[in-house]
Amino acid sequence: MSEWQKTDWRNKPRVQMPEYTDAAALASVEGSLAAYPPLVFAGEVRKLKSQLGAAARGEAFLLQGGDCAESFEQFSADGIRDTFKVMLQMAMVLTYGAKVPVVKVGRMAGQFAKPRSANTETIDGVELPSYRGDIINELAFTPEARIPDPKKMLQAYTQAAATLNLLRAFSTGGYADVHQVHAWTLGFTDGEQAAEYREMANRIGDTLDFMRAAGLDSTQEPNLQTVDFYTSHESLLLEYEEALCRLDSTSGKWLAGSGHMIWIGDRTRQPDGAHVEFARGVQNPIGLKCGPTTKADDLKVLMNKLNPENEQGRLTLIARFGAGNVGEHLPRLVKAVREEGAEVLWTCDPMHGNTIKSASGYKTRPFESVLREVRDFFGVHAAEGTVPGGVHFEMTGQDVTECTGGVRAVSDEDLSDRYHTACDPRLNASQSLELAFLVAEELSARRSAVQAKAV
Ligand code: PEP
Ligand code: CO
Repeated sequence: MSEWQKTDWRNKPRVQMPEYTDAAALASVEGSLAAYPPLVFAGEVRKLKSQLGAAARGEAFLLQGGDCAESFEQFSADGIRDTFKVMLQMAMVLTYGAKVPVVKVGRMAGQFAKPRSANTETIDGVELPSYRGDIINELAFTPEARIPDPKKMLQAYTQAAATLNLLRAFSTGGYADVHQVHAWTLGFTDGEQAAEYREMANRIGDTLDFMRAAGLDSTQEPNLQTVDFYTSHESLLLEYEEALCRLDSTSGKWLAGSGHMIWIGDRTRQPDGAHVEFARGVQNPIGLKCGPTTKADDLKVLMNKLNPENEQGRLTLIARFGAGNVGEHLPRLVKAVREEGAEVLWTCDPMHGNTIKSASGYKTRPFESVLREVRDFFGVHAAEGTVPGGVHFEMTGQDVTECTGGVRAVSDEDLSDRYHTACDPRLNASQSLELAFLVAEELSARRSAVQAKAV
């Protein structure tokens, strides 16, 4: 077999990608992007891979979260900061409750392209091409807005670079220092989990005081002052991915320079398709969405293609079956993994199988369904003796009303209040924190069970 090339995907069947009409404009954008610096570096990607390997063994836990779709219009420092803050809070709840390091990966700095269930959208008898994310076309319902424009890739690159710059500053510049654990609270998160969070933060504060009194200066400990924060997105728009693909001189391997981790969506995981062809050639950690329609035989082919060396941390299987469907589908895929002896990290995306249309017409996700899918995911792994290694959420630090339910209950009627998503409904900060406490509980129950077995 000849060596993989970053252009090979062009010879494979492609789905969910735009047909650009202006070939010269597209070529010019691709040329510009190919000359720009990559957004991430190979050493970071290798470090993430080894941390995901630890998660696969149950020695760490992956927290992946962020917008369904990043938007040009809603781009702001506050938006980035608030999502980062909630993720820090969630990570602290998980670390404290489950006593494992949490690997933090944002759906950020590149999550712009969206697969759609239909190619067109019809409103009042007018049919137009579907919106496919700000990197491709515009949400406005006009014929001009829906034409794919390659120049949008340049704006997406710029926004991703600026986002990553801020995330790097927050991660290492003092903001993520554990001594700030109280400061990450957002003004509008009140109620039960907020109190629970404050209590936990107090106990962490006490521990830090104790360490100081005992002669250990926690303010000089780099592991407590900074965090590793990684980026990820769906590798959907392959012209963009190819243009940012670089050969890493240290290892001689290809790198997707667009983000630390990339994933393949539920609609683009055809074993012989373009998206799998691109992802198999880069050294980044790869996510693969697994849904009710994932066949065990296809999964086997995909695992061999995407991780031929059976490297730990390379492949994350993101289960998204929908509440009530986990028991039917997860065991058969766990079996396929076992039969292949494949190294994978299992994580749970309780969002994409639980989207419904509310009575008020909004696309929403009932919080109870999200919770149920997470619980069932843990339940199946406990029964199978496999590792539930992470979660994948669509969430925001903004106080939105997009998913119904939660302790600060959002009702069907409330959805219209602050429904800001450009695509799928996200958990707000309170709902995200509530979920983190639940996951921490599941993880510590698992830990006790594993320890009891070891005795
Ligand atoms: C997504 O993660 O935004 C998405 C579209 O998911 P899926 O491919 O699982 O439907
Ligand atoms: Co989504």
